[in-house]
Amino acid sequence: MKKILITGGMGYIGSHTVVELIDRGNDVFIVDNLSNSSLEVINRIEKITSKKPAFKVIDCCKFDEFEQVFKDNKFDAVIHFAGLKAVGESVEKPLLYFENNLVSTFNLVKLMEKYNVNNLVFSSSATVYGKPESVPIYEDFPLHVTNPYGRTKLMIEDILRDYSKVHPKFNVALLRYFNPIGAHPSGLIGEDPNGIPNNLMPYITQVAIGKLPCLNVFGDDYKTKDGTGVRDYIHVVDLAIGHVLTLDKLYKNPGLVTYNLGTGNGYSVLEVVKAMSVATGKDIPYIIKPRRAGDIDECYANCDKAKKEIGFKAKYGLKEMCRDSWNWQLNNPNGYR
Ligand code: NAD
Ligand code: WQD
Repeated sequence: MKKILITGGMGYIGSHTVVELIDRGNDVFIVDNLSNSSLEVINRIEKITSKKPAFKVIDCCKFDEFEQVFKDNKFDAVIHFAGLKAVGESVEKPLLYFENNLVSTFNLVKLMEKYNVNNLVFSSSATVYGKPESVPIYEDFPLHVTNPYGRTKLMIEDILRDYSKVHPKFNVALLRYFNPIGAHPSGLIGEDPNGIPNNLMPYITQVAIGKLPCLNVFGDDYKTKDGTGVRDYIHVVDLAIGHVLTLDKLYKNPGLVTYNLGTGNGYSVLEVVKAMSVATGKDIPYIIKPRRAGDIDECYANCDKAKKEIGFKAKYGLKEMCRDSWNWQLNNPNGYR
């Protein structure tokens, strides 16, 4: 049995990963400052897995309180989900993003070094590819970013690349997630954004349930199949399983590895709207609005490397992603509140 520290484990992707890890017999310890999550998540994880994971409210930016967790536990690996993730907010408050995302990671890596923990999975993002010159996107494509949030991800990737060069015992996986949607099929955990959602799927589910009147489709003049933006949506449970597979890889001492985690399929906004209409049995009213600043035409992954090296292949399609997003929304009209 491995003991795994999960920073940000109360959040959307972290909570789903905790479930998959517990289901496979791992011992999990969550730290989270609850800045974007709810205590209720622990109860929901317990309902799904019949096991209550260890949890401490810790801000990873506060070195001393974070260190206590390392003093009290011997970890085999860390998955570092903790971070702020809203692109628009990062443009408004760049220092908040640089401080939270970078300081938490500095503290984590210093503590891993001090307590001799040598396996780290880092939540990076497809955002590090900026506007790619072509699709699908391979891991060796040039990296450039367009907003402070993305810059924190690229800076952390750079820091971890430099660090791993001089610490050969240190194994690190940079996982570049594409667009996670969906929820655990139980309907007990899912994405719970604060206020009006920024991202497409939670916005659509709130339209479907009647909390928001209508979806704004940002642009219909992109060079895509129907003019609306194309993304690689991946079911959050598939993404969570990607972390389990990645840990198995790290235990074999590969040094630094980088993987795209997506499905390899691109769907347009209007295709997602249509699939959600079918899943909900409801009309999803929408209006076409101007493009959103910073958006790109198309973004989808080539996932051959993750398939070859860790056996990763997403098993859920758009239909299941829509079904489970809707199931979560229906069962939890106000999220965890
Ligand atoms: P989330 O906001 O649901 O989860 C992040 C968790 O980290 C939250 O529970 C929050 O309370 C916690 N946290 C933030 N700062 C912290 C700190 N200083 N100390 C302790 N806890 C802290 O986000 P998510 O969607 O689950 O994303 C997880 C990770 O994956 C993030 O790093 C995010 O940038 C990255 N990512 C997310 C997406 C996406 O679309 N959801 C895509 C690519 C990458
Ligand atoms: C998807 C598509 C929008 C909302 C973001 C981050 C990225 C990563 C994943 C963290 C686009 C369109 C959206 C709406 C719309 N996160 N849209 N109306 O922008 O691809 O990626 O989340 O790392 O860094 O940027 O995701 O869900 O916001 O948008 O028409 O109300 O839906 O224009 O084409 P995005 P998204």
